[in-house]
Amino acid sequence: MSWAPGNGGSRVTGAKAPLAVVSGATSGIGAATARALATSFRVIGTTRDPATVTDPIPGVDYVALDLGDPVSIRRCAEEILCRGVPEVVINNAGESQSGPFEELPRDAIERLFQVNVIGHVDLTQRLLPAMRQAGRGRIVMVGSMLGSFPLAYRSSYVASKAAIKGFALAARRELKPFNIGVSVVEPGAIATGLSARRTKYVDKRGPYAREFDRMLTKLDANERNGISAERVAREIVKPVQAKWPKPHYACGSLAGVAFPLSRLVPLQVMLDVIARKHDL
Ligand SMILES: NC(=O)c1ccc[n+]([C@@H]2O[C@H](COP(=O)([O-])OP(=O)(O)OC[C@H]3O[C@@H](n4cnc5c(N)ncnc54)[C@H](OP(=O)(O)O)[C@@H]3O)[C@@H](O)[C@H]2O)c1
Repeated sequence: MSWAPGNGGSRVTGAKAPLAVVSGATSGIGAATARALATSFRVIGTTRDPATVTDPIPGVDYVALDLGDPVSIRRCAEEILCRGVPEVVINNAGESQSGPFEELPRDAIERLFQVNVIGHVDLTQRLLPAMRQAGRGRIVMVGSMLGSFPLAYRSSYVASKAAIKGFALAARRELKPFNIGVSVVEPGAIATGLSARRTKYVDKRGPYAREFDRMLTKLDANERNGISAERVAREIVKPVQAKWPKPHYACGSLAGVAFPLSRLVPLQVMLDVIARKHDL
């Protein structure tokens, strides 16, 4: 990595290296991003249980964080600030949830929003005073292309990713005077094995079951055939390296076509295209 905020472009290693935080650094996109950043940063990677990290990435220290638990978020922020002021915060950890809108349990929606939205906001708010005082930093929210292109049977996930994008893009203007860049990175379908960890809520004998299963089969296939986590990590590193980062980055699922197209065609056409790509 050629540049880190605040080090003037020079590569610094060891105890003096700048500090980066990557949440959800034990698998998929988070692990690939932690590995990429570890060449230039001291990286704190988070996991719900550091004891389960059997194959640590060199240069990454693992700290406990359960985004579903406000006490864990407070402790994690305290632990990070004990080790230094982060220059880079990658809010990546997340839960993937599916289910027909009508059948999503309220407690599942609440947990999803705590993990995918409020938890990231809470952690970032706790780190910001020190980052603001330092007068530099980069914050990246890992959203999803589904946050921009809603898909049926993913309403809670779509809404959580649209929400985190909203937080990022609004906070961006507030933090600019302090030289803190805020960006959202929206991956498309990525082959991380996330499908196996997806939470699903559907009445198997209910009115949506057949169509839901069809959509999920296609969604899982799209993810299996998706781009690599390493490719997404390269996208996430772009706002870290940029002199001034763009608000929005995306990769995978023909992002380079989908976003320009969405500015040209009616919204319903885009929604139909997304649905058809998922056998709906
Ligand atoms: N894969 C895709 O196709 C895709 C597409 C678009 C967006 N994304 C987004 O990209 C991000 C990473 O996805 P991924 O595919 O790399 O997922 P993944 O392989 O399942 O990794 C998720 C990470 O989040 C951590 N995590 C899960 N629940 C957590 C919680 N309650 N509190 C704190 N950490 C938690 C896990 O760590 P521990 O289990 O060690 O705690 C793990 O390191 C997510 O935000 C996801 O929504 C993924």
